[in-house]
Amino acid sequence: MIKLPRIALALGALAVISLAAVAAVSASISKHSATAEVCVLLPDTKSSVRWETQDRPRLAAAFKALGDSYSIVNAQGVASTQLSQAQQCLTNGAKVLLLVNLDSGSGAAIEKLAKSKGAQAVDYDRLTLKGSASYYVSFDNTAVGKLQGQGLVSCLKSSGEYSKHPVIAELNGSPTDNNATLFANGYNSVLNPLYKNGTFKKGPNQSVPAWDNQKALTIFQGMLTQTSNNIQGVAAANDGLGNAVVSALKSANLKPIPVTGQDATAQGVQNILSGWQCMTVYKSIAAEAAAAASVADGILHGKPINTKGKTVNDGSRNVPSVLLTPVAITKNNWTVLLSDHFLKKSDVCTGEYAKYC
Ligand code: BGC
Repeated sequence: MIKLPRIALALGALAVISLAAVAAVSASISKHSATAEVCVLLPDTKSSVRWETQDRPRLAAAFKALGDSYSIVNAQGVASTQLSQAQQCLTNGAKVLLLVNLDSGSGAAIEKLAKSKGAQAVDYDRLTLKGSASYYVSFDNTAVGKLQGQGLVSCLKSSGEYSKHPVIAELNGSPTDNNATLFANGYNSVLNPLYKNGTFKKGPNQSVPAWDNQKALTIFQGMLTQTSNNIQGVAAANDGLGNAVVSALKSANLKPIPVTGQDATAQGVQNILSGWQCMTVYKSIAAEAAAAASVADGILHGKPINTKGKTVNDGSRNVPSVLLTPVAITKNNWTVLLSDHFLKKSDVCTGEYAKYC
């Protein structure tokens, strides 16, 4: 008679404790991802600063403005991590995955998984070849490459090298990123005719695995050795690769040569202002994030999504697509990046670079 109430009390206390524990856990999950309807899968932090400094905050702002719950994770360059992040998001109830793949194979597996759980995938920035994404939101990436090719040509004209049969090196992006293929198609559409008619000499040409800036440095140092420093211009696929070229030139005590870039990073702009980089390509991430968030919002709430009939072929299907327009940036128009609130003056005009601003 005495024991029963004690047991009951003890059980009751246990129940209270475990309920409290469950409540605490679920509260902390829901704050992060449990109720996130949209899950953004970013690729890494090292291939470009854009993913954490631009895409993350701008996607967050776009989802907040639409009132959609979201979570944003970063796979740190590991495809198996990205797959488990996708699994976690789907378990937590995500209905849309916004994916920046690390390679098409792992991306296609994630999209297949999403479909099997009744969710939809949207390719963000990078197209997943032979995938099953419902939409693709990006820039016209061949146009990005064309701007790089044209920028290189015009810098070679101003450096006086254009008429001297300059040797051009190409430092391409990751061989597993479909965008890198498109960028190269773009700059080669400008450069190939000039190689062919003898205006330029085709120099070393290499892809940089995973856009790894450290590897890019080693690769470009190898190109310098291989040519006995006989390179007069470099098509580098983004600012990180461009900066690897700049570092290699500086440490070999060589003079600046025209080098291209992409992403309009603070470092890229500093290299432009100090005369070490010819140009970069500005892609408004605010616009890309807003377009992707609005596609995700349309999927979530069954609203019409108008891609104006635009599609991109992924190797097996035509994927309805939104492709935005990139802008070339040089010394002459870089302040557009400030007026557009893409970069802050304090990001660029620091230390030794203050004198250029
Ligand atoms: C993106 C670029 C970026 C590169 C490396 C590409 O897919 O379009 O903006 O610089 O990946 O992350």
